[in-house]
Amino acid sequence: MAAQKDAPAAGKLWGGRFTGGTDPIMVQYNESIYFDRAFYSQDIRGSVAFARANQKTGLLTEQEFNEIERGFKQVLKEWEDGTFTIQPGVDEDIHTANERRLGEIIGTAIAGKLHTGRSRNDQVATDMRLWLRDQLEILEGYLIALLKVVAARAEKEIDHVMPGYTHLQRAQPIRWSHWMLLYGSFFASDLERLRQVRARINKSPLGCGALAGNPFDIDRDAMAAELGFDGLIMNSMAGVGDRDFVVETMQWGSTLMMHLSRWAEDLIIYSTGEFSFVKLADTYSTGSSLMPQKKNPDSLELIRGKSGRAFGHMTGLMMSIKGIPSTYNKDLQESVEPLLDHVKTVGDSIQIATGVLSTLSIFPENMLRSLSPDMLATDLADYLVRKGVPFRETHHISGRVVALAEKEGRPMDQLTFEQLRGVDARFEQDVLGVFDYQKSVEMRSAKGGTSKSAVLEQIEAVKKILAAN
Ligand code: ARG
Repeated sequence: MAAQKDAPAAGKLWGGRFTGGTDPIMVQYNESIYFDRAFYSQDIRGSVAFARANQKTGLLTEQEFNEIERGFKQVLKEWEDGTFTIQPGVDEDIHTANERRLGEIIGTAIAGKLHTGRSRNDQVATDMRLWLRDQLEILEGYLIALLKVVAARAEKEIDHVMPGYTHLQRAQPIRWSHWMLLYGSFFASDLERLRQVRARINKSPLGCGALAGNPFDIDRDAMAAELGFDGLIMNSMAGVGDRDFVVETMQWGSTLMMHLSRWAEDLIIYSTGEFSFVKLADTYSTGSSLMPQKKNPDSLELIRGKSGRAFGHMTGLMMSIKGIPSTYNKDLQESVEPLLDHVKTVGDSIQIATGVLSTLSIFPENMLRSLSPDMLATDLADYLVRKGVPFRETHHISGRVVALAEKEGRPMDQLTFEQLRGVDARFEQDVLGVFDYQKSVEMRSAKGGTSKSAVLEQIEAVKKILAAN
């Protein structure tokens, strides 16, 4: 290892590499260029806005500003062409790298004026907010695409009835679309939350300086407007010391991943041989290297697995931030790598989920076959409620019918009318009409329920959130 070569000089207990130059491991430990270069264009945009504002305050002449702008155009081009050469050990972070290169292009006499009244503390916060607000717009597009698939499928496949579960035990018949819209409801809330988080992120910290503010009366509002921010962070110490916008993004992303993970888990179960309600398209499954018959739902398992990673980003960063004193501390640099990975993980997961759902085959006959008359026991109780019997009593009566069917070894709907009547004399001929799954779902017509009209209303609710902005 590099550090071992620079072992402490003889005779000194803690001399050697700690006294003079730089510990190579410290250089590598401290530098962020290999990940914060992701913000190269935001860093340049922010710098140009800052320079323009400093021309207004008189710190830069028009000619100096033009030079800075011209120089940055070239730096940007180099990043985009892939010709920007990072100087190892010199370019500590993206801010240092861009300024170093600017100086080489336009000369340090002018480039050296750029940073007046600015700190990397307000600079990095600006870069990250600019980057993140644009990324969240991309994620919003992905989420909208997913919700559109949910709504379209729910509309098209509204007639299919399947078992609904609580405790993963068969409970009551529901529409397949109702199941899809359960997640549609979750994802629609995620979309609303995303829009709220983005609005809070899109505030400008530029001009906060190192912590105490800018001493040259810089026009923060003008810079914010140029950069497309909706207003300012109004306390300079908060502006440089805040990574709540990263935490909040990760809380949002974690909640979304929690939903995607449950959704994936349902589909993994529904795709087993035992259920066979759905089948994943080949693109989203893989085979086994050993068992030729296997088709594994890897896409869904990865969504489920990656949710843990997303929660890790969130809790890890909250741990890093919770104990640090006010304003900027280097701990905050630890927000960058998890943020980059979080945004990628969440974005990829939403897109994979959309692909899975839009190519999924369903087997409505298997869904139907999995229903059993005992799932209508509540409907039987409700039948007597409609005849005026208190529910607590009807619950017992229906339970006795379930027990009788079990004892007779036949499904509930195969009991004779006389047998039902034997359990309770208030059953009438029309009781046999209860044993109808379509009827059962149609009965649940109150808002949010599983009847056709109630499900259509849910689709409309999702579409409304999609259209809102
Ligand atoms: N690379 C640093 C970060 O991401 C930039 C800010 C450095 N500021 C400082 N005072 N050392 O946090």
